[in-house]
Amino acid sequence: MNGKFFAASIVFITTLYSCTSPNPQLLTPDSMKDPHSFSNPDDAVVKHLTLNLTVDFEKKILSGTAMLDVEMKNNVKQIILDTRDLNIEKVILADGSKAKFSLGDEVKYTGRSLTIEIPSVEKVKPASTLQPSAITIHYSTKPDAAALQWLEPSQTASKKLPFLFTQSQAILARTWVPIQDSPGIRFTYSAIVKVPKGMLAVMSAENPTEISPDGEYNFEMDQPVPAYLLALSVGNISFKSTGGRTGVYAEPEVIDKAVHEFADMEKMVNAAEDLYGPYRWHRYDLIVLPPSFPFGGMENPRLTFATPTVIAGDRSLTSLVAHELAHSWSGNLVTNATWNDFWINEGFTVYFENRIMEKVYGKDFAEMNAALGLEGLKETIKDLGDTSADTHLKLNLAGRDPDDGVTDVAYIKGCFFLRLLEETVGREKLDDWMRKYFDTHAFKSMNTEELVKIISSDLLNNDSTLISKVNMNAWIYGPGLPANCPQVKSERFEKVDAELKKWNGGAKASSLETKHFSTQEWLRFLQGLPEKISPERMKEMDDAFGFTESNNSEILCEWFQHCIRNNYLQANPYIETYLINIGRRKLVKPLYQALAATPQGKEFAKNVYTKARPNYHAVTYHTIDEILK
Ligand code: BES
Ligand code: ZN
Repeated sequence: MNGKFFAASIVFITTLYSCTSPNPQLLTPDSMKDPHSFSNPDDAVVKHLTLNLTVDFEKKILSGTAMLDVEMKNNVKQIILDTRDLNIEKVILADGSKAKFSLGDEVKYTGRSLTIEIPSVEKVKPASTLQPSAITIHYSTKPDAAALQWLEPSQTASKKLPFLFTQSQAILARTWVPIQDSPGIRFTYSAIVKVPKGMLAVMSAENPTEISPDGEYNFEMDQPVPAYLLALSVGNISFKSTGGRTGVYAEPEVIDKAVHEFADMEKMVNAAEDLYGPYRWHRYDLIVLPPSFPFGGMENPRLTFATPTVIAGDRSLTSLVAHELAHSWSGNLVTNATWNDFWINEGFTVYFENRIMEKVYGKDFAEMNAALGLEGLKETIKDLGDTSADTHLKLNLAGRDPDDGVTDVAYIKGCFFLRLLEETVGREKLDDWMRKYFDTHAFKSMNTEELVKIISSDLLNNDSTLISKVNMNAWIYGPGLPANCPQVKSERFEKVDAELKKWNGGAKASSLETKHFSTQEWLRFLQGLPEKISPERMKEMDDAFGFTESNNSEILCEWFQHCIRNNYLQANPYIETYLINIGRRKLVKPLYQALAATPQGKEFAKNVYTKARPNYHAVTYHTIDEILK
C-alpha cells in the first residue's frame, strides 16, 4: 500500500473513532433513509390529514376518505404513500378530477406503495377557500387489518357492546390509513368518525368525554405527529377526571378501579415538567383497554393506551404511566428518525420514567425498578448472543420487521447509556442539557448520528477525556453491555437476596421475612429462585405465599414460569385462564416459550392457544404462532 495514503487513512479513521463519531459506514445518506417506508419526503410530503371514517362493527371495516394536504417540492409530479391491505377505490384531486394512481408490489412487512400522479401543483392547491386543498383517497380497510383489533362484546368487561382499538406503532398505521408512514414525517390531523349510537370514540387528539347522541365525533390534532401516533378507540367507554389536566377512560365496569390505580397521574405530569420542561400536549389522559391490548402501554399523544394488567390494586405497576407520559417528551416531541434509531425513543423514555418514579415515590422504589431492568437486559443479551448486532443501540432492521428491534436493548441498554452520561457529567448538567435538547428539537426527528454529535459537543464539551471515558462507540455501535455500565444499588433488594439465601439453604418459605415485600421485591425473589425446584418446595412456597392465586399479572408471569419448568400441575388451570384472558405479549410470550420446551408442555400450550388466539391482537399472535409452530 502506498505509504502516504496509508498514513492519511489512519488519520482519517482515528479521527472518526477518537471523537466517537458514528461508524463511517453509517454516514451515507442511504443509511439515514427510512428502510420501512416507500415515501419520498424530499419530493412530496403530507402536511395535514383529514380523515372521514365510518366504523362498521358488523363487517369489521373502516371506510371513507383520507384527504391529504401535500407539499410538493422540486417540481415533482407525484407523491408516494405507504399502504398495507387497503382497498383503494379512487383518488380525487382538488379540482374534482380523478388522479391516476398505482399500487406497487407487495413487500413483506412494508406492504405496498401507493403512487399518486399530481399533474400540476394547481390541482392540489385550493382554487378557493371552499374547495378542498388536497388529494382525497376513497378507501376501506380489510377485516384483518393488522393495526385494528375488533372485539366481540364477550371480549369486553361489559359484554354488551363490541370494541375497536388501533395499534399503529411501528408500521401498522398504513393498514388503516393511506399515509407516509415514517417516524420522520409529521403532520397535523383532523377526523370525523361515525360509530354506532351509544358508543364513544376517542383518538390521539382533543377528545370528547361524553357520548354523542348521533354517533358522530369530530377530532382535531393541531400539533404535528408522525403516523405511528395515529390512534382510535371505540366502545362502551366512560371518563373520569383524576386532576386538572388528567383523566381516565375505561369501560364503566373498570373505571373506578382504574381511577384508584392511576390516582397519581396529575402528580406524575407535574414531576415530569419539573424535570424536563413544560408538558406540551394540553391534556394527559389514559384509556384502559380490554385485556387483549398487546402492549403494556402505547404513548398515543394526549391519550395513552394501556393494558388493564397493570391494575394490581396497590398502584405497584404504575411506572407504566410514568413511561408513557415520558414519551410526551422523548418520542412524541423528539422522535426517532427511523426504527433503527428506536433506542432514542425508548432508552430516553426509560431513563426519564425512572426519574419521574424517583421524584414521586422515592429513590428506593425507583432503584428497584432499575435493578429489575438491568437483570432483564442481561438475560436478553444472553438470549440474543453477546456478539449479536441486535444488541447494538443503533440497529439495522432493513428488510426485517421493526418489531425485531423491540427488546430490552433499546429500552434498558439505552437507559443505562444515559445513566452513564449522568454519572459522567453529574445530574444537574445532564438535566440542563436534556431540557435544552427537548426544546431545541421539539416536533422534529432525531437520528443516532446527529445525537452522537450533539452529546459530544453540547454535553461532553468535546472533552476528549470525557469522550473516551463514555465510549459512545462501544455503547451505540458495539454489542453487549460495555464494561463501564453503571451499577445499581438497592438495599431493599439486598434484603430480598438475604431471604433467598436462607431459602436456598433449606429454610421454609413460611419462615422468611416477606411481610413488607412490594411487587418489585416479590419479582426479585421469584427471579432469584433456582431453575429446578422440587414438587414439595413448590407446594410449600405456594401455600406460604399464595402465588398461584395472586391478582398481580407480573408476579403470576414469573411464578407460572417456575410452575411450568417444575411440572407443578396444580397451576395449569390458572395458567390456562391467564393465557386466555390476557393478550399482552410481554406477559404471555415467556409462558408459551417455557411450555414449548417440553412435548407435554407444548401439547398443553397448543390446546390452550386454540381458545386464547381469538383474543389476541395480531402483534401477539404472530409472535406466539412462531413459538408453537
Ligand atoms: N411505544 C412502546 C410500545 C411499542 C413499541 C409498540 C414498539 C410497538 C412497537 C411503549 O411505550 C412501551 O414501551 N410499552 C411497554 C411499557 C413499558 C416499558 C413500561 C410495554 O408495552 O411493555
Ligand atoms: Zn416506550
